[in-house]
Amino acid sequence: MSEPINGTEIEQPPETDPSQESETPESSPWLPSPVQVHRYKTPEAVADAAAKRFLDTANRAVEKLDHFVVALAGGSTPRLLYQRLTESPYRERVPWDKTFFVFGDERCVGPDDESSNYRMAKETLFDPLEIPGHRVLRMKGEEIPADAARRYAVRLGDLFLTRPAPSFDLVLLGIGTDGHTASLFPGTEALDETERWVVANHVPALDSWRLTLTFPILNKAKRVIFLATGESKARIIAEAFGGVEHPEPYPCERVTPLHVRREALVDFEAASMMPRRDDAGADAVGDSIRP
Ligand code: 6PG
Repeated sequence: MSEPINGTEIEQPPETDPSQESETPESSPWLPSPVQVHRYKTPEAVADAAAKRFLDTANRAVEKLDHFVVALAGGSTPRLLYQRLTESPYRERVPWDKTFFVFGDERCVGPDDESSNYRMAKETLFDPLEIPGHRVLRMKGEEIPADAARRYAVRLGDLFLTRPAPSFDLVLLGIGTDGHTASLFPGTEALDETERWVVANHVPALDSWRLTLTFPILNKAKRVIFLATGESKARIIAEAFGGVEHPEPYPCERVTPLHVRREALVDFEAASMMPRRDDAGADAVGDSIRP
């Protein structure tokens, strides 16, 4: 079990009353809890640690609300997790028949395109588990981006009608080397969205449009897990979650739902630039790194 980041027990604020809709990270007197960084030897071990948390969160949500809503990460890093979830014990023990899959973001391409996040999740998770289509809310990257974003927000609203307040039980997020998460890229308009849950976001760095969930809805998550592996992510992990100086908060640092657990599961390489208070036991698998 990891210790809180600064070594002292952090006073946990009272359980959120869902009717406190108005409370946002900006308006609340509470600070979001720090991101707990957990380090594992290999990307496979990261995937396994994430799968355990997926199972645990799914069962708790079903116990409480009779269904589980998860926002899936795109990109390449979550592949290993999705594959792991199709294997024992997760294949048998996750309540798949009560699970709804939402996407954190999508590239503006069709569902069969090799860069489609939906296609990646379909090949690695939905097909192997034979997840029925009505449980998957696909972002329609092939449509006019603004229309697709608006329609997706409506579908999310319908999905959330089944619960006391709009919220994801679990949000899985990757992190780009520039600190972007979902398709919330530095310097893009979507960062300033304060109302809409889903927007079409033009990303000059990619010269392309993306569909993405926004901070207003991401910050209603009940649990957030960041996944990052490989040396290319070492600097961003150290800056975003390790307290290493950097000019301004990265988009991934602005996913700050209140009163919930935020964790970053990383491999040794991605953690290689994290400042460490002590090196005793540095090689322990799954150890938490305290800046
Ligand atoms: C996407 C993602 C994006 C991703 C990061 C990291 O559609 O690209 O949602 O936010 O998580 O770019 O990507 P990798 O996991 O491929 O490094």
